[in-house]
Amino acid sequence: MRRVKKAIIPAAGLGTRFLPATKAMPKEMLPVVDKPTIQYIVEEAVASGIEDIIIVTGRSKRSIEDHFDINYELEANLRDQRKEHLLKMVEDIAKLADIHYVRQKQALGLGHAVWCARKFIGREPFAVLLGDMIIDSDVPCLKQLLDIYERKQAPVIAVDSVEWSQVSKYGVIDGEPEGERLFKVNRLVEKPATDPPSNMAIIGRYVLEPYIFQILSRLPAGIGGEIQLTDALQQWTSRHPMYAGLIQGKLYDVGDKMGFLKATVELACKDETLREPFRSFLRQAAAEGGETT
Ligand code: G1P
Repeated sequence: MRRVKKAIIPAAGLGTRFLPATKAMPKEMLPVVDKPTIQYIVEEAVASGIEDIIIVTGRSKRSIEDHFDINYELEANLRDQRKEHLLKMVEDIAKLADIHYVRQKQALGLGHAVWCARKFIGREPFAVLLGDMIIDSDVPCLKQLLDIYERKQAPVIAVDSVEWSQVSKYGVIDGEPEGERLFKVNRLVEKPATDPPSNMAIIGRYVLEPYIFQILSRLPAGIGGEIQLTDALQQWTSRHPMYAGLIQGKLYDVGDKMGFLKATVELACKDETLREPFRSFLRQAAAEGGETT
């Protein structure tokens, strides 16, 4: 049995939905409470047993590399000031995992971004985690998929049901239920404009086989003129088995302003030091809002 040790995190997108915040700053560095969104993703990968991570970056993404690197000046300063707790926090980020970088030189789509990491992956099965989804769960989302992969020895993608009105924002599957919280995938459609096959949306976590790179290398552009990972998976399912796991956990689509705000409020409400004062602030704000409306 082949263990999944490597993961790809595509992070080359322009982040236009968050302009002007993302004019000079990668969207992956926007903080939810006190951590950049990409750190949540890296932590999920590590907690799922991933040892090596390749982040696919683009222009203006240097701060991502700096974030996961050692910052000698800051560490020396914190050491001098005996801020042990902060020092440990900063040091731990650089020790999280072996992180590698590759550049996607042209913005040709998610499928192309994943393909850019092919040499790093070689012949092993691998995971893909998209930065736009933060998933708050007891068992890390990717670990839930890896458990299915171990049982089925076939590619697995994470899905969750979304409101029908939101379906056209996602890749969607057509699957047959196979046991609890598991589907055998028959078909996948990227951002269906009409007749979505279901409201089971792909939520940005995948466990894949390296053969997908061969499919990606000859895949024509799909919706939006981009090389779509979902289209490559569709080609895979026409010949090989693929599964979808209905994920247990709370999903935040932080690529969307509303999802980002929900994540900020709800994760702040769960934070040990912020929980009490922040909840009391929210109660007070709600009461004051009630008075004025
Ligand atoms: C990508 C995938 C899509 C998936 C979504 C989840 O789309 O192509 O299948 O449902 O991520 O966030 P994007 O949001 O990059 O357009």
